[in-house]
Amino acid sequence: MAGEAQPDHDDDDEDDWGDLGGERDDLTDVPGGVRLQKVLAAAGVGSRRHCEELIGAGRVEVDGQTVRRFGARVDPEHQIIRVDGKRIPARQDVVYLAFNKPPKVLTAMSDDRGRKTIADFLGDHAERLFHVGRLDYDTEGLMLLTNDGELAHRLAHPSYEVAKTYLADVPGPVPKDLGRRLSTGVELEDGVAVADRFRVLEQAGSRALVEITLHEGRKHIVRRMLAEVGHPVSRLVRTTVGPVKLGGLRPGETRDLTTKEIGELYAAVGL
Ligand code: URA
Repeated sequence: MAGEAQPDHDDDDEDDWGDLGGERDDLTDVPGGVRLQKVLAAAGVGSRRHCEELIGAGRVEVDGQTVRRFGARVDPEHQIIRVDGKRIPARQDVVYLAFNKPPKVLTAMSDDRGRKTIADFLGDHAERLFHVGRLDYDTEGLMLLTNDGELAHRLAHPSYEVAKTYLADVPGPVPKDLGRRLSTGVELEDGVAVADRFRVLEQAGSRALVEITLHEGRKHIVRRMLAEVGHPVSRLVRTTVGPVKLGGLRPGETRDLTTKEIGELYAAVGL
């Protein structure tokens, strides 16, 4: 394998050259930069050795140019680095978190009425983080938090709206044609709202658990849509945002997004 013959590089200045195979790229080293394999490993792509193999295999791009040279020094703060076309989180100062918002918590960093806010769960991170969109005070589930302003902005922007999935407790029974009605479009006071997907997960007597996916970001959109079709929501939980799933994250807890999830979020908003 291309990387196997290579020494484990440290951070000194001597230049190690990898398996060039006659394909020396013309990327100029960034003065004072960090070795590419070190940046990849720090971003969670894999071990230094694995990252060298990826570089040797021509799977790593810096600012759109394939780099096969192990010793290349890059600027992780400003250059865009991709593995297999997916951007990696190269900046060391950037945080990407999934948070399971409990009910009765305000999507804000402070509240002049003294209600609990998401900042109460974020410890030292709170001041630096943007919440990506909002969940209602009573809504639970997945929120993304980051200090990557551009990603947060694009994820929340209507032109990039990523799909979000919710579980809702509603009164049953749910008629067979409800999914069709929701995906055809429901007339709301501020315009039509359309579901991408809808299914009934459970029906027991007078209650039902339904799952709805949409790209919409309008306020109270799921509650308003389901109320409009005669099934007002008594509990609402967001379970996915684009490629990120709530999974087993407990209420009030956060976890770091994986490198793969971050790459997929970047891709979803054209970054
Ligand atoms: N739709 C709602 O009605 N509430 C939320 O919090 C999110 C989507």
